[in-house]
Amino acid sequence: MGRKHAIHHFVNALLAPLFVVCLCLLPIFFIFKFLYTIYLHLRNENMEGKVVIVTGASSGIGEQLSYEYAKKGARLVIVARREERLQQVAKTARGLGSPDVVPICADVSNVNDCKRFVDETINHFGRCKSLSISI
Ligand SMILES: NC(=O)c1ccc[n+]([C@@H]2O[C@H](COP(=O)([O-])OP(=O)(O)OC[C@H]3O[C@@H](n4cnc5c(N)ncnc54)[C@H](OP(=O)(O)O)[C@@H]3O)[C@@H](O)[C@H]2O)c1
Repeated sequence: MGRKHAIHHFVNALLAPLFVVCLCLLPIFFIFKFLYTIYLHLRNENMEGKVVIVTGASSGIGEQLSYEYAKKGARLVIVARREERLQQVAKTARGLGSPDVVPICADVSNVNDCKRFVDETINHFGRCKSLSISI
């Protein structure tokens, strides 16, 4: 009986902290995995001269994606609502190696805005390789 209690105490003492640790670590693990998947995807793709539209490009993931595409020599259309931030991202992306960066202010919840930035992309570049959405 005493031995059974001791085992129960031991398992209870171990499981509670283990559960808390898992709760804290799992979200970090999934965020890391998500970003790593994007990194691997970009690393293996030949993007030189290709045209990419990045929405949500003024900050966060979209901004970093723009820089990764820029390093690979892609031509970029970067889309978001904050013009000043977009201009800064465009400047950095050019510095990192993108031969042509077009910042476009647009709200992606507005269908006309979406049509406008796709039309402007086709008018400027004549084509588009891919659309990267990070909003
Ligand atoms: N950060 C992470 O670790 C992580 C992990 C997994 C998933 N996510 C998800 O990935 C998405 C992006 O995350 P984030 O951290 O990069 O967020 P963030 O830094 O807030 O970036 C959001 C971007 O979307 C733009 N945006 C927002 N609403 C818009 C609209 N209506 N029209 C055009 N542009 C708009 C913002 O620019 P303007 O304000 O200038 O328009 C900004 O450039 C979110 O949905 C987030 O939940 C993030």
